[in-house]
Amino acid sequence: MTVRSIRFRLTAWYAGLLSVVIIALGALLFFHIKSYLEDTLLETQARRARQISDTLVTNAGKTGEAYVAREVAALYDPEKSDRFIRITSRDGRLVYRSGVPVSQAFDPAAVPAAPPSQLEEFTRKQPIAAGPALLIAAVRAGAGGTSYLVEVGTSAAPVETMFHHLLLLLGLGLPIVAALAASGGYILIRRTLRPVDEIAGKAEQITQHNLGERLPVPATGDELESLSVALNRMITRLDDAFLNSKRFVADASHELRTPLTILRGELESMVQEDGVPGPQRERIGGLLEEVERLSMIVERLFALSRLDAGEAQSEWVRFDLAELVATTAGQMTLLAEDRRIAVTCDAGSPVMVQGDRSRLKQVVVNLLDNAIKYTPEGGAVRLRVFAAQGLAVLEVIDTGVGIPPEDLPRIFHRFFRVDRTRSQHPEGAGLGLAIVESICNANRGEVEVESVPNKGSCFRVKLPLAA
Ligand SMILES: Nc1ncnc2c1ncn2[C@@H]1O[C@H](COP(=O)(O)OP(=O)(O)OP(=O)(O)O)[C@@H](O)[C@H]1O
Ligand SMILES: [Mg+2]
Repeated sequence: MTVRSIRFRLTAWYAGLLSVVIIALGALLFFHIKSYLEDTLLETQARRARQISDTLVTNAGKTGEAYVAREVAALYDPEKSDRFIRITSRDGRLVYRSGVPVSQAFDPAAVPAAPPSQLEEFTRKQPIAAGPALLIAAVRAGAGGTSYLVEVGTSAAPVETMFHHLLLLLGLGLPIVAALAASGGYILIRRTLRPVDEIAGKAEQITQHNLGERLPVPATGDELESLSVALNRMITRLDDAFLNSKRFVADASHELRTPLTILRGELESMVQEDGVPGPQRERIGGLLEEVERLSMIVERLFALSRLDAGEAQSEWVRFDLAELVATTAGQMTLLAEDRRIAVTCDAGSPVMVQGDRSRLKQVVVNLLDNAIKYTPEGGAVRLRVFAAQGLAVLEVIDTGVGIPPEDLPRIFHRFFRVDRTRSQHPEGAGLGLAIVESICNANRGEVEVESVPNKGSCFRVKLPLAA
């Protein structure tokens, strides 16, 4: 899963938002509970302080301070109940102070005097050096002209403990909840976006050769469905446009054939006519050559448009590719001899293929024609036919001019020629290899090329072996 994928971003947003909400709500809840618990504890201490003040301290004038101290110690037993109790007179004299509690949570002697206050009752949170704070409630009581301050306190330890437990719960729970939410969300999003992968996979496969195919339309009623419907309409329009342009080339080349044939016939009879002066005859000969070139281009365009249209194969037979290559090479030796190029053919054992024999012969002719044409005089061309890995392979290897690496990707394009100025090879149209590729594809095969400039080229045709 890449970081930029919709899946990742939605899942991350989902899990992130959930974590933030949980943390915020948790924090709010903690502080609320904490202050509620502390208030409740302080309220309990205040009640106890009032009780001590009402029942004992207000009578101190009659009973004496020592009696009050004794009674508080006996009735409330503060050391055992972990409580802090202190009674001081207005002038700061200590009447009673509880001892160190059993829990050792605080030292009563170290608790500083209450801060000055005009209030009858007040509370405070007294920090303790090592441990939880003391929650203290103080109440004033008057007796026999003297005023006393009764302080009752307890450790905030239970609140802190609860706080820690809640924190632990959140610390453990949050990742689990976030992980559950993220994985659940991821599964949901993946299921929702699965059609996108299918559409993308199919779109990758659609090329100009199979524009009749369509993208899958998920019946989800959502944006994805309308997207694939819209894309399919676009493919239909492209298909129509392609068909129109192919039909145009097919019609144009077909229409051009007849006038060209007439033109050639006329020119031929003009050349043969008696009484035509020499220079004129030469000019007509030149025209005849150009007309022949034009006819050849038109014939090739016509052949290509028929291949494009996927026209039914003229013959679909089982034959020996090695034998076809050997005969074709034999028929073309004259052409090679003219240019003093040695053609050798390694096609000994039969290699059976199934396909359109005459069109595949055209493949051999075009490749061999190129190899001879683009190899300087005195060079060599080698043909090889063999079976390898379930495929019939034909290699046409030459020691010619080669093809620059930057032109290799365009070598099979229509009308593409490396030498655009036609300075060295004026006769080519740039259609031979396009025809080779079309025929190979129509015969369920493929053609590839390797080439080194000024060293030579190797064109390799691969076809399925006949069963
Ligand atoms: N064996 C080869 N060695 C070097 N260059 C080649 C070879 N075969 C093809 N090419 C280059 O590829 C171009 C395209 O080849 P293609 O056969 O399609 O056209 P062409 O030979 O120029 O014309 P056509 O075959 O239509 O008469 C050629 O113009 C040539 O530059
Ligand atoms: Mg050619």
